[in-house]
Amino acid sequence: MSPRPPLIVPSVLPADFSRLGDDVAALEKAGVDRIQWDVMDGHFVPNLTFGPDVIAACRSRAAVGFEAHLMVSNPDDLLARYVDAGCELVIVHAETCTHLHKTLSQIRALGARSGVALNPATGIEAVRHVIDLCDLLLVMTVNPGFGGQAYIATMEPKIAEARALIDGSGFDIELEVDGGISPSTIAGAAAAGADVLVAGSALFRDPEGLEHAVSDLRSRAVAAQAAS
Ligand code: DX5
Repeated sequence: MSPRPPLIVPSVLPADFSRLGDDVAALEKAGVDRIQWDVMDGHFVPNLTFGPDVIAACRSRAAVGFEAHLMVSNPDDLLARYVDAGCELVIVHAETCTHLHKTLSQIRALGARSGVALNPATGIEAVRHVIDLCDLLLVMTVNPGFGGQAYIATMEPKIAEARALIDGSGFDIELEVDGGISPSTIAGAAAAGADVLVAGSALFRDPEGLEHAVSDLRSRAVAAQAAS
């Protein structure tokens, strides 16, 4: 099974926090496929960002799906709050889940789709035995905590491994990559097998605007998939 047409998902980390609702609306207008909220607790990662109320306040400003990337030490305690805030997809880190099988089951029981994120040092093996409970697998190409970091290209073999695991599973699972995705790095991630690309800085810093950034990244990912 080849990767599906690439989705472009913005991280709102570089957005203007004084106008989040306006930026969410602008991202939808620019043609993004979903919006990722980088939830950070200042413990699992050094940064501190969005509580569920902030996301809930922005829910009515766009119709596109919201995903919560929970970079938090105790995700089980927060799952229901982020689903209630309007996130249709909840991504937890394998490194923070003592009982990952149970956590993924809980996300689905709440009516959301479930995702597992893997830090650069964590192997695909961490999800092999729960792949049936995953709607998305996220391979981090930076160490989580901040936007604007350099893409870790040595993760590309791991992206390919994840692609092979997904294709061999027979399940309909998205392969997402997050961290340092830009016009110069997106081709490598897409060619390795990613079909969902998360970008923050590259979208917001494009001098030609969000719409250009989204379509440019998408066309680069499509071309890379076709060539691989
Ligand atoms: C890392 C964050 C970032 C963000 C994307 O913790 O999750 O990866 O989503 O930021 P850029 O695209 O600027 O690397």
